[in-house]
Amino acid sequence: MPNNTTIRFPNDVHHPEVKSWIQSIVDLCEPSDIRFCDGSREEYDTLCAEMVRQGTFKALNPKLRPNSYLAWSDPSDVARVEDRTFICSRSKIDAGPTNNWVDPSEMKKTLGNLFKGCMRGRTMYVVPFSMGPVGSRLSKIGIEISDSPYVVVNMRTMTRMGRAVWNALGQDGEFVRCVHSVGAPLAQGQKDVPWPCNKDTKYIVHYPEERAIWSYGSGYGGNALLGKKCFALRIASAMGRDQGWLAEHMLILKVESPAKEKTYITAAFPSACGKTNLAMLVPPKEMEGWKISTLGDDIAWLRPAEDGRLYAINPEAGFFGVAPGTSKKTNPNAMKTIEANTIFTNVALTPDGDVWWEGMTDTPPAKLTDWQGQPWTPDCGRKAAHPNARFTAPANQCPVIDEDWENPAGVPVSAIIFGGRRATTLPLVVQSFNWNFGVYLAATIGSETTAAAVGKVGEVRRDPFAMLPFCGYHMGAYFNHWLQMGRGLTNAPRIFCVNWFRKDDGGKFLWPGFGDNMRVLKWVVERVQGKTSAVESPLGWMPQYADLDWRGLDFSAKNFNNIMAVDREEWKQEMLGHEELFQKLYDHLPREFGNMRELLLSGLWRSPERWEMLPERHAEEN
Ligand code: OXD
Ligand code: MN
Repeated sequence: MPNNTTIRFPNDVHHPEVKSWIQSIVDLCEPSDIRFCDGSREEYDTLCAEMVRQGTFKALNPKLRPNSYLAWSDPSDVARVEDRTFICSRSKIDAGPTNNWVDPSEMKKTLGNLFKGCMRGRTMYVVPFSMGPVGSRLSKIGIEISDSPYVVVNMRTMTRMGRAVWNALGQDGEFVRCVHSVGAPLAQGQKDVPWPCNKDTKYIVHYPEERAIWSYGSGYGGNALLGKKCFALRIASAMGRDQGWLAEHMLILKVESPAKEKTYITAAFPSACGKTNLAMLVPPKEMEGWKISTLGDDIAWLRPAEDGRLYAINPEAGFFGVAPGTSKKTNPNAMKTIEANTIFTNVALTPDGDVWWEGMTDTPPAKLTDWQGQPWTPDCGRKAAHPNARFTAPANQCPVIDEDWENPAGVPVSAIIFGGRRATTLPLVVQSFNWNFGVYLAATIGSETTAAAVGKVGEVRRDPFAMLPFCGYHMGAYFNHWLQMGRGLTNAPRIFCVNWFRKDDGGKFLWPGFGDNMRVLKWVVERVQGKTSAVESPLGWMPQYADLDWRGLDFSAKNFNNIMAVDREEWKQEMLGHEELFQKLYDHLPREFGNMRELLLSGLWRSPERWEMLPERHAEEN
């Protein structure tokens, strides 16, 4: 398209600012064509068929995996790139020490040069989308301009995308500007590759004050599907700070008791701690009558309402889940969700045209084509699927999707759970003494690094609120915002911490996890309903052995004691770790944290060196 070509806007676009913004991006990026996406099934099918022709997609066997596709990315483009992710607030202090910051005017110069002509030879897609049900008071609108059809079809599954959004936007509605390019212009006659990206240069840039996102060079996941981490967490967290709400890295689920009482819970865990599994948990069959239904597996937006409670919506419309490790045993509901209409990325292909990944079955198939297109056999010494391989599937295909998952008013949250991955120190479950102490505990959660992550194996990477890579402003100011939110709630959710990953002295996991996590959820529910007792530990309120439902699980009181014990020596080290984080954030650290630290220290010093769940300890009501 020659410069200054007049764009033919669809009749639905009534917003002058949207029009002039799109015109400016066309002039900058110089695409050869422009397509406004209507979000229809027909458009989705057409784009998928085009990608099959072009080599980006393989159509899977329609008998085994109807209407599903497999994409293999470039090996250099397989995950979010945190070191190339920037928060370009006007002032460096506002981004805080845990984010990469570049002066916005400098960044705009850099990006201006990169985006100049970056869509040459490609079609530019305009994707209007709503995070949250279209028209809900809790939802927000974005427009993503992208030169990747892979992004368009994934955005259709992950967000509410298409014509209805133009109407919701009207003539002057607010929208987040999202610009994405794979950064691989095509010269005239140049043949495209199956996964265009820029191997050398990647930028994932956020301007929180302008509510704008610019992403260059990657076509993968959170780098390119800008509604997800970039908008629904980084930009939305800054919106929440300004507007009095919270954008969180949390799943949302409902627990229904045998008496049909409904309790909504949100839970934050660092990446790769099994959020999708917990969101779709299948309770042990012995716990008859207890049911879990899913509202979201990754992101929750939480807003106070007039009744003094916090209400949650899932801003997304699909699941972008990690495939490896997902199986009929670990997550049967996810396996059902992805039976059809699913896009797989970087998993292996079976000879009969289906997909496979490590952990899907106990015995791997004898032959596969791996995620890099190479022949694969079980003894070849390579992984068949990339460890960060993904499925993109519509949320409404989940067999346990909750009836209220699209309720525009959201659902009232009674409990918020924070979890980390810790081999020692942290107990299976503890209820915070109060909101402020819960904020302190959430601020200090973390995960021991595994071989797959950067850093020394076993080192604790602090991941406050599981938001370290996703908070769009100063992490210390974010803690203050949480404290402030608590002051405004007359019926605040109760805060809990869990750790499914504690190990015994021999290095074996103490807790079976998966469906058995229901035992902990049940106690959480009964606590918020005031139906069960707890004992006071140095860290907060804890269940005694008899308070958990053990039907169908052989788990001794001794093991329970081991998984709940609070060791003063370990906590001394732990609190030094807290200090390290707090020193980094000192310029915005809440003053309340000093008091919370005192509370924790005095609890630890008043207790025996190793606080244990002794059988004679009497339950106390709080
Ligand atoms: C995700 C993540 O992909 O947290 O959800 O990394
Ligand atoms: Mn996540």
